[in-house]
Amino acid sequence: MPLAENIMSLVGRSLIRVDDFSPEEIQHVLDIAETMHGALAERQTLLAGRILATAFFEPSTRTRLSFESAMQRLGGGVIGFADARTSSAAKGETIADMARIIESYADVIVMRHPVEGSSKVAADYARKPVINAGDGGHQHPSQTLTDLFTVQRSRGSIDGVHIGLCGDLRFGRTVHSLLAALRHYDIKVTCIAPPSLQLPERYHPPGLPLAMTDTVEAVLPELDVLYVTRIQRERFPDASEYEAVKGSYVIDAAMLDRSKPELLVMHPLPRVDEIAYNVDPDRRATYFGQAAYGVPVRMALLALLLGALPSDDVPAPASDPAPIDHAPRCPNPDCANRLEGYTEPQMLVLDATHRRCLYCEMELTI
Ligand code: NCD
Repeated sequence: MPLAENIMSLVGRSLIRVDDFSPEEIQHVLDIAETMHGALAERQTLLAGRILATAFFEPSTRTRLSFESAMQRLGGGVIGFADARTSSAAKGETIADMARIIESYADVIVMRHPVEGSSKVAADYARKPVINAGDGGHQHPSQTLTDLFTVQRSRGSIDGVHIGLCGDLRFGRTVHSLLAALRHYDIKVTCIAPPSLQLPERYHPPGLPLAMTDTVEAVLPELDVLYVTRIQRERFPDASEYEAVKGSYVIDAAMLDRSKPELLVMHPLPRVDEIAYNVDPDRRATYFGQAAYGVPVRMALLALLLGALPSDDVPAPASDPAPIDHAPRCPNPDCANRLEGYTEPQMLVLDATHRRCLYCEMELTI
């Protein structure tokens, strides 16, 4: 299949942030995912002899198992760990050393870690593609590809949609990644969250106006997609802050009476209590189908990054053309640049006095 205009090869590339892929490249992954979806029942050998390593330092069900399923469905093998206590990180090994070891055992690394920018560190040191499966409260780009695929398949198109992002917009990495992608579409976004969980400035996508509200009821009748997230309890610096917002929004069947009949209720899962079980039988409940789409989407991603598809031989684009400063060290206490002391600061120069950390995207004034 010939590559469309503006699509460079994805072979050998890492996916750390959504912005690592152009809008055309994202669409290319979704198109290949469509093909993969149609061939799920077939025995495939595209990735025979290739190995995926999963390095998971935080809990996961869907992301790890859908990556493993995707790799095996393409005929590849899987190694990895799902519990940081069983890896050498427990003995104090750095992310850089871990990445250099795993790259010698596998062809692609999927990593989840609580530190923002941790996957970028791995990608900077490994000479194999690294896929960020969640780096703290920062990003989770392969979930975004799955979310976009779900909307596209369910509605035929992403353009023209009014999407409400509801829940923990402060710490929810799936929302941060999704917003980075949504700015490429002609859509309307409403951020629905209690004030203390609203979207941090650094995740406001350039050029995409955001409406903000703290209750779902008023905006629900206008929405085409309601994307609900769990309150990320583990990321709160202080337990009392979590207690103050816990249970503050619950979507239930009665509320859906006031929504469009073709609304998509999405959720990256797991849910805690933010979507009542009485929503599950409603045809607007899309979250289980959304989780299932993780397999064809990750099949497409793995096949493309590992060069298993024809005509993937266009040279990769040059990385960020904007100037980068190697000082100061990032002040964000949750950033890999601060926590992994050997990493070099990488500050995108925005203007004379503003920098953006390339590990965690925090902006600072110097
Ligand atoms: C999400 C995550 O880990 O960020 N889960 C997922 O990958 N589907 C959402 C969450 O944990 O709330």
